[in-house]
Amino acid sequence: MASDGVTDLAGGDILDVAEKIRKVDPSDMLGVLSSMPGQVRDAYSLPRPKLRIPRPASIVVLGMGGSAIGGDLLGACLLEKGGPQVIVNRDYDIPAFVDKNSVVFAVSYSGNTEETLSGFAQAKKRGCRIVTISSGGKLNELGEAAMHIALPKGLQPRAAVAWMLVPMLGVLEDMGVADVRTDVEEAAGMLEGMMKELAPSVPASKNLSKEVAAELHGTFPMIFSGPLMAPVAKRWRTQLNENSKMLAREDILPEMDHNDLVAWSEDPMAAHCAVILLRDDAEHPRVAMRMELTRKLGLDRARSVREVRSRGKGTLARLLSTMAVGDFSSVYLAVLRGVDPTPVRVIEKLKKQLAG
Ligand code: PA5
Repeated sequence: MASDGVTDLAGGDILDVAEKIRKVDPSDMLGVLSSMPGQVRDAYSLPRPKLRIPRPASIVVLGMGGSAIGGDLLGACLLEKGGPQVIVNRDYDIPAFVDKNSVVFAVSYSGNTEETLSGFAQAKKRGCRIVTISSGGKLNELGEAAMHIALPKGLQPRAAVAWMLVPMLGVLEDMGVADVRTDVEEAAGMLEGMMKELAPSVPASKNLSKEVAAELHGTFPMIFSGPLMAPVAKRWRTQLNENSKMLAREDILPEMDHNDLVAWSEDPMAAHCAVILLRDDAEHPRVAMRMELTRKLGLDRARSVREVRSRGKGTLARLLSTMAVGDFSSVYLAVLRGVDPTPVRVIEKLKKQLAG
């Protein structure tokens, strides 16, 4: 195979050479990730619809893939604020309980995702209040103009997560469901600091995401967390899938102690896995204890185990700070693997085939 001059280099060397990174990441996914603090602030200032429902019976987010993860993060934010439960519907059909007392966010970056459009049509028939969020597409045409949040164009959906998450928080804040202004400001400030720590210019010896990427390279990554951080574990996995083009898996404690642990204690495949434990100061003390015991009883059989701890006070900052480490790691890992992090050709191919 012809040498590309990049994949020949050892991990740390590649990640510390700017032109090598540019060569593997020509669409500058790293640059887009670095814009996250600005995204958070700008997304909070986007014009948004005002809904008059004091306490919605349910909050439902319709979305898939990169457009759905914001719904999971929204659910985690509201959980700690005592808000209503958020159901993220990744399907064509919406649950029977969704009715005119539900607030529905139909979120699709492209605006053309068939599952989301199908859920939107069903929610409309049931008389739900539907906020549409897209950068264009059919969702933009079908939604009510006054209920639409228009996103900037030209991003990969997964790189626009803050654009999709923060306006939903804003809509719910305006409805009196939860105060988020301070959380948004804290998260943006926290991310600003992290962008400096995780930037490509910071050498591998001092850059957490470069270290993580080198550790995950050539392994089967397994991302574990407690329930609150579950959306972030999913995000790590999906970013490894789409940016690094790697198989990866996520699971949650305490549930995994009731099944997965058995395999960890016995399967020789454990030696090919690299474990990331996403830790959070607010995790249940028994979950914290389980993390330690689960390591000793099984996870320590993995090739490596690393803890990544959330930072910040508010849930939003804790979620996004932990997510940022994974986002950057996934792109550095793409560089180590010599794969362009941006395109997701097979998803586009599948969508074309489905469209006939
Ligand atoms: O990351 C991706 O490109 C996918 O996961 C998409 O987000 C998913 O296919 C849904 O498309 P859209 O975000 O345009 O609704």
